[in-house]
Amino acid sequence: MSEIINNQWRVAARPYGNVKISDFELHREPLRELEVGEFLLRTHYLNLAPVMRMYMQGTSAAGEAPLDIGDVIHGRGVAQVLASKHPDYQMGDVLQGQVGWQTYKISKGTAGERFYIMPKRGLSYSLGVSLLGMTGFSAYCGFVKSGYPKSGDVVLVSGAGGGVGSIVVQIAKILGCTVIGIAGGENKCNFVSSLGADHVIDYKNDNVVNKIKTLTPNGLDIYFDNVGGEILSAALDNLAMYARIVLCGSISEYMREEPFGLKNYTKLRSTDSKMNGFFVYNHEPDFKEAEQKLACWIKEGRIQIKEDVTNGFSQMPYGLQNLYAGKNQGVALCQILDDSELVFD
Ligand SMILES: NC(=O)c1ccc[n+]([C@@H]2O[C@H](COP(=O)([O-])OP(=O)(O)OC[C@H]3O[C@@H](n4cnc5c(N)ncnc54)[C@H](OP(=O)(O)O)[C@@H]3O)[C@@H](O)[C@H]2O)c1
Repeated sequence: MSEIINNQWRVAARPYGNVKISDFELHREPLRELEVGEFLLRTHYLNLAPVMRMYMQGTSAAGEAPLDIGDVIHGRGVAQVLASKHPDYQMGDVLQGQVGWQTYKISKGTAGERFYIMPKRGLSYSLGVSLLGMTGFSAYCGFVKSGYPKSGDVVLVSGAGGGVGSIVVQIAKILGCTVIGIAGGENKCNFVSSLGADHVIDYKNDNVVNKIKTLTPNGLDIYFDNVGGEILSAALDNLAMYARIVLCGSISEYMREEPFGLKNYTKLRSTDSKMNGFFVYNHEPDFKEAEQKLACWIKEGRIQIKEDVTNGFSQMPYGLQNLYAGKNQGVALCQILDDSELVFD
């Protein structure tokens, strides 16, 4: 296999502020031969997610090992098995899991790589890094299993134009909720409206505190939090009785030197409300249900596929940079090879 060249993006420097192209190093090396118990994967799609900047900073985030300078950047992807000496993976299988920022991977299929064989559903395999992968599972499990939605609930979603948020908005509408999405700027807000949100708050131009108060005279039943900081604080000030807050992410805090100090968490007390931590991998037993439900809603046309695609492996660093500039609408991913290059013999 030495004639096959593997392209990898590695950490060249710890990011300060948004990632810079000089924080990445493109490395090329020939593949070695497979050993017994290993299989060879060829990458088709790679996810782009805010957590990847944390990996580059050397933080042990999302259960992944901290990275040193020179390490291949972690990232989930969709890849096909090209050759296998592993009993559980056959040539032609399409997997989603921890591929890393590289065009090929030799894997032993360890538990930490969390590889799942993707069912053939007649849908694009790119969905393995978007709706039918961890982004979709975060939205489904976070909202349905941690938010306990009921028809008629008033639901606030921040980061509503991003990967997780854009899916939560749509699930909440399917389940009969009234949805208020928060996003930055006119284009993002129009995008969130196009997903079916009943109201949109532009956090870059509106007074978020006043707008939440006006739109929720009886308070919020659920706040799905992707951003933390001041918006979380504003939501806490407007809770209905027995409200649920799902702490999915805190992207507004990732680049701050000092974390935001939440002062009004005691607002939970007077309304008997709950603020739930949420980590997608703690919900692995629900992934099958999430995958089936989301695939079914896609096929019924009840949920739209909103992927923001970066084309080509060489563009991966720019894709991550765009994410922190809030440029993506829907789930950000990179297409390395498309479905037409999959082989099923
Ligand atoms: N707990 C878990 O298991 C889990 C799993 C997946 C993701 N997450 C977290 O969930 C969050 C969303 O992930 P994602 O994949 O959907 O990311 P994403 O696609 O990058 O979306 C995040 C959105 O947040 C908005 N945003 C960025 N900076 C902001 C700020 N300072 N204030 C308010 N909004 C801001 C951006 O849109 P605007 O243009 O509107 O600013 C962006 O579209 C992230 O914090 C991520 O780390 C957690």
